[in-house]
Amino acid sequence: MIEKKYGIIGKPLSHSLSPTLHNFWFKKYKINASYSLIEAEVDQIENIINKIKKKELQGINVTVPYKQAIIPFLDIIINDAKETSSVNTIYLNDEDKIVGDNTDVYGFERSFINRLNNNDLIEKKILVLGAGGVTPSVIFALAKKKIKQIFISNRTIKKAEEIKKKFPFIEIVLWKNVNDKSEDMDIIINTTSLGMKGGSDFKEVFKKFKSGLVYYEVIYNPAETTMLKNFKKQEIKTFNGLEMFIYQGQKSFFLWNKINPKVDEELKKIIISKLR
Ligand code: ATR
Repeated sequence: MIEKKYGIIGKPLSHSLSPTLHNFWFKKYKINASYSLIEAEVDQIENIINKIKKKELQGINVTVPYKQAIIPFLDIIINDAKETSSVNTIYLNDEDKIVGDNTDVYGFERSFINRLNNNDLIEKKILVLGAGGVTPSVIFALAKKKIKQIFISNRTIKKAEEIKKKFPFIEIVLWKNVNDKSEDMDIIINTTSLGMKGGSDFKEVFKKFKSGLVYYEVIYNPAETTMLKNFKKQEIKTFNGLEMFIYQGQKSFFLWNKINPKVDEELKKIIISKLR
């Protein structure tokens, strides 16, 4: 039997642990398949999609910076991908159509929202930092919970305005005012790449915040950014992005293989051991 091929497309990709995740599950469920990094320029996207059409590739994940840019190359976008205009999982369906779906929303719900006290979530004030590839998924998941006060702040305001077009109920906070706004927030969700391995970090730390603040960031490599460490030191409840990463992968795996792979301690240990 021919080995099935999967991969992740993006640039840069050196930090991605998606191959570790999917190859672990392929082995565990005895599926003859492999998953690799497909670092690509924007002008290579079409060629990669053609490989899926020709069944040389069975499916791909999409990451920074192509979650939106890849949409024109697809035949249909469905479910959460349609709601967010953000695609992270692609495959060929039974009618030979290239389908784009989104599993980041599920990953965020499963790893974070479902762990909060859902009864009083609706009243919470939530500040989302960043307006990158994963931000629409985070905001859509929050919107589903009917949270009344969602704020967004991004260094480049134009990108925050783009997201507001899709979710008009969110309020934009100027990036320079983020430190003042933090005082009033119940939850801060960092979707920027600040603090990620090899990149720049937050220059300032939040000085004013509620003692019951919950801080979440989508970064999982390193396991603790400077910002997360600072909050933790001050006994703020913090979450990193490791579980979101694992659960978005779980749903992608299910979409491709129709098997819902188990998330267990062995897997988490392997992923954590690979963090540099
Ligand atoms: P992309 O924007 O290409 O989708 P991303 O990794 O999904 O990439 O998003 C990066 C996010 O981190 C963006 O919100 C970005 O802000 P800009 O839109 O202003 O670029 C934010 N970011 C990255 N480096 C930053 C920095 N040095 N200061 C502030 N925000 C930064």
